[in-house]
Amino acid sequence: MTLPPGPPRPHLAQTVGWLTRPGPYSRRLRERYGDVFTIHVEQRAPWVMLGHPDHVKQVFTGDPNVLHAGEGNNILKPLLGARSVLLLDGSEHMQHRKALLPPFHGERMQAYGDMIRAIANEEVAGWPVGTPLATRLRTQELTLEIIMRAVFGSRDQRLRDALHGLLEFVGRTSVLVLSVLGGKRANTAVFDRVRVPIDALLGELITARRADPDLSEHADILSMLLAGTDMDDATLKDELLTLLVAGHETTATALAWALERLARHPGAWARLREGDDDYVDAVCKETLRLRPVLPGVIRLLKAPYEIAGYTLPAGVAVVPSIHLIHTRADIYPDPLAFRPERFLEKPPGTYTWIPFGGGVRRCLGASFALFEMRWVLRAIADAVVELQPGTTSAEDTKHRSITLAPKADGRVIVARRAAPARRGQPVPSGR
Ligand code: HEM
Repeated sequence: MTLPPGPPRPHLAQTVGWLTRPGPYSRRLRERYGDVFTIHVEQRAPWVMLGHPDHVKQVFTGDPNVLHAGEGNNILKPLLGARSVLLLDGSEHMQHRKALLPPFHGERMQAYGDMIRAIANEEVAGWPVGTPLATRLRTQELTLEIIMRAVFGSRDQRLRDALHGLLEFVGRTSVLVLSVLGGKRANTAVFDRVRVPIDALLGELITARRADPDLSEHADILSMLLAGTDMDDATLKDELLTLLVAGHETTATALAWALERLARHPGAWARLREGDDDYVDAVCKETLRLRPVLPGVIRLLKAPYEIAGYTLPAGVAVVPSIHLIHTRADIYPDPLAFRPERFLEKPPGTYTWIPFGGGVRRCLGASFALFEMRWVLRAIADAVVELQPGTTSAEDTKHRSITLAPKADGRVIVARRAAPARRGQPVPSGR
């Protein structure tokens, strides 16, 4: 069985290419090898990158018992715990996914709207005028507050501080180091230092909520999980941490990218400020297309697998490349341009707009994330009249563990604020 072509050894050069500039690197490889090629990243199984929608469709609709996403995500295991939905496969994964779905159902989103708007307005009110602002640091505070309120219904400062410690640790740690620490030779002691205190706090919160006589009346995610499932405490801890981690770093990064792009596209910013719901939505979609938070999703093969004319052996990973799909000129003319209008002209396709992955592993929080992004962008557009870039040239990407963040943290300058009266306008209907 031969693997699709790809760059020759040394693997270290490929690892560096992938880690430093995954977007341009994969586009270069596509030019050389076509839509299907193999790369070798140190400490990982060989990756067969897939850049054609037909192949992405095949994987997303394929047999989850052969295409293991949980195992593909194993570097997150020491951090999130073995019972995290992100790490499971097969029937256990489906069971957890089903249990976690109700709080993320589209209809439930309205319940979060007021909370998100209030937190976003308060955050933006504190943004300085005339000095560069590293927006990712601010959006990270914002999205952490939002996800904690969605999950627990209230804030717990001790947990917030502990999560900060964990996220800083993860953010600072390169994906390569995570692979070594979390791979076959998992060094759990390193992770235990940050996880143990968080587990203790989560345990306290779970015990208190279990004892709450009004449990069934609460609308937060923890209460829903306690009332609607029979998850034990250890499982709940892993799943809560998964939602807290997966549920805010990603959205914070996407928002920072949106601001980085909007500051460089005054026409798009002006149109966003007009308040048309469809345009706000298009800005979110275009940001996630052009600057996907995750460059691809991984499925580890458990049996020989035929795709694109190859029979791939078990042990290899197929990687639907979000970046390659999103930069196809046949689907997105002038693919590197930031043009939200393209999503007003044509809705996104299931296998051509894949920032949230797909199939039975599609991001559980996709509706929540888009809903949150729209509300936060509206709040910013209401409060800020003029936005300018905070760096001389467009920001490159940097890996923050597994996410791709703007190199200067989405640095912008709030050049002019709206008069306070503009804020607190009637609320547009959320979707
Ligand atoms: C812009 C923000 C977000 C992006 C770009 C994003 C992206 C992704 C991607 C690419 C996956 C893997 C999908 C696959 O393997 O096919 C994923 C999985 C997941 N995401 Fe998100 N995500 C975001 C926000 C959220 C939020 C807000 C939550 C929860 C509150 C969340 C919870 C999850 C969970 C639980 C999974 C695992 C699903 C499974 O394995 O069945 N994500 N996300």
